[in-house]
Amino acid sequence: MTPGDLRQAYLDFFANKNHAILPSASLVSENDPTTLFTGSGMQPLLPYFLGQPHPKGSRVVNSQKCFRSQDIEEVGDNRHTTFFEMLGNWSFGDYFKQEQLAWIFEFFTDVCGLDPKKLYVTVYEGNQDLDIPRDEEAAEIWKKLFAKKNITDKRVFYYGNENWWSRVGEPTNMPDGEPGGPDSEIFYDFGVELKDHENSQFADQKCHLNCECGRYLEIGNSVFMTYVKTKHGFEELENKNIDFGGGFERILAIMNNDPDIFKTELFAEAIKTLEVLRKAGDSYENNPKPYRIIVDHLRASIFLVGDGVRPSNKGAGYVLRRLIRRAMVQSRKLGIAQDEWLSNISPLLITHYLQTYEYLNEKSPEIYKIITAEVDKFRKTIKGGIKALKKIFGKAIGGIDPDNLPLGMKLENNIIRVDGGEVFRIYETYGLSPEISQEIMTDWGLAFDEQTMKECEEAMDKHRELSRSSSTGMFKGGLGENSEITTKYHTATHLLHSALRQILGQHVQQKGSNITGERLRFDFSHPQALTKEEINQVETQINNWIESDLSVAKKTMDKQEALDAGAIAFFIEKYPDQVTIYTIGQDLENDWISKEFCGGPHVDKTGEIDRVVFFKEQSCGAGIRRAYIRFEQK
Ligand code: ALA
Repeated sequence: MTPGDLRQAYLDFFANKNHAILPSASLVSENDPTTLFTGSGMQPLLPYFLGQPHPKGSRVVNSQKCFRSQDIEEVGDNRHTTFFEMLGNWSFGDYFKQEQLAWIFEFFTDVCGLDPKKLYVTVYEGNQDLDIPRDEEAAEIWKKLFAKKNITDKRVFYYGNENWWSRVGEPTNMPDGEPGGPDSEIFYDFGVELKDHENSQFADQKCHLNCECGRYLEIGNSVFMTYVKTKHGFEELENKNIDFGGGFERILAIMNNDPDIFKTELFAEAIKTLEVLRKAGDSYENNPKPYRIIVDHLRASIFLVGDGVRPSNKGAGYVLRRLIRRAMVQSRKLGIAQDEWLSNISPLLITHYLQTYEYLNEKSPEIYKIITAEVDKFRKTIKGGIKALKKIFGKAIGGIDPDNLPLGMKLENNIIRVDGGEVFRIYETYGLSPEISQEIMTDWGLAFDEQTMKECEEAMDKHRELSRSSSTGMFKGGLGENSEITTKYHTATHLLHSALRQILGQHVQQKGSNITGERLRFDFSHPQALTKEEINQVETQINNWIESDLSVAKKTMDKQEALDAGAIAFFIEKYPDQVTIYTIGQDLENDWISKEFCGGPHVDKTGEIDRVVFFKEQSCGAGIRRAYIRFEQK
């Protein structure tokens, strides 16, 4: 199977089981201020796990573009990438464990042709403190599935937190309102002869499925998304959901019969070409790391730019900048001239995606232009940066002429202490980020000590807003707080919608919205600009409702019943028969001010949200206006 064949086979397999095929969402997360990037297939679908009806029904499938910035440092081994595609199928309260495990086993063994004797699975061992049971049900299903293939030896292994999935990992990290659940992972065994467990960092442990020495490769995860964290602990969600994610590149690697995903068709030509262009360093076989970093980072950069990210000094733009510059430093190690690596290998990487991601055909000239401009900019300063680095290292290690420290020269493992502010100034002046400086140093056999990095971080913090740059752990800190503020903005969205309809007229309809931690953007149908007077009225109305501390209540009902009761729907497309409705009012039966189809979450009382300020209004296409509101600073 080619990469395109595998992707299509997966989509077809689930389409045949009545799943609607969805396009991939953007790599840049929308409506989710807690993270910069889409890091898993389920992320853009979050509201539907919480009960909002999906316009395409309760079974959907896609291949989602994902980016995990926290894996940047991992790139270099045979299986980690920053950008990847996640094959995903979902059940929103429709089918459950039995169907999911049987289908995914059928897909891997019968469609992909993987040898079932090489597959092993894990299930959740339960957690008494959280009152979540051991997943014997999934274990039994698996045993029967293996038995049907005449495999009766031990295939199912229990684990704790490794078999719990939520966007923030283990249960104790989850803020209120966050959904999660036990999961069941599938591993492929490359066999002991292929792996070097004894020489791995896990040599002192017995090799096991989650050992990470590389023998067992995780290829798919079925999450039984059934819980939501609340103030009172874990509560069961109304719907029992399935969230499956499969590693597209990893499955390809197995079908290619080699654990190295960089040897699959997606990367092979690009790596070969880099070897031809190489004027220094080792071959791929002898030292694959620089090659892997270049192809991974360039592919990720192409997709990020394609989804609208531009190099900058903060947020997503900083991550992109880091990728491009890291790739460039690696290409220098291979002695590849100027931007030869860029112009020669970009087309070899992009070619595998042109059919599926059609927009890349049109956008690729623009994408190359943006990446080339960033490379040019960095090229002008990188030499000066390396010289400055040598100078501070030279000073720190004493007596060695920094100009006699060529790339590639190894000293004893030297931990050096320099002024972190100087490392930061190298970033500021020459664009060598601390991570890149650190990396160049490793080539010289040097490493900054902790204090140096700490000082440098402090200087960086001062310089730019680091809080959302996600350079380490994308949800680290702040998700709890952020999801609280997102919830408040969700409720404010309903209030704004209702106030606009009351003041401007019932022709007003929501056309879109976008929430960040700082504001709500709301698009709606209306033929002309709002007057100052109208803006004041809308703002006052919302604030009156907030002050009246109205109740917000959720109810599941028949679609027709909801429409009869006057609920308004933002998606005009199909809804399933059962829908959830949020009503806001003093008296929820007779005196409500808002009733909308929505999955939530929302605050319980409008008094929990802060007063709003209506701070901007503009046109957004013919007959559509765009309004911005934010909470008043206290
Ligand atoms: N959401 C699950 C994951 O990312 C499938 O592993």
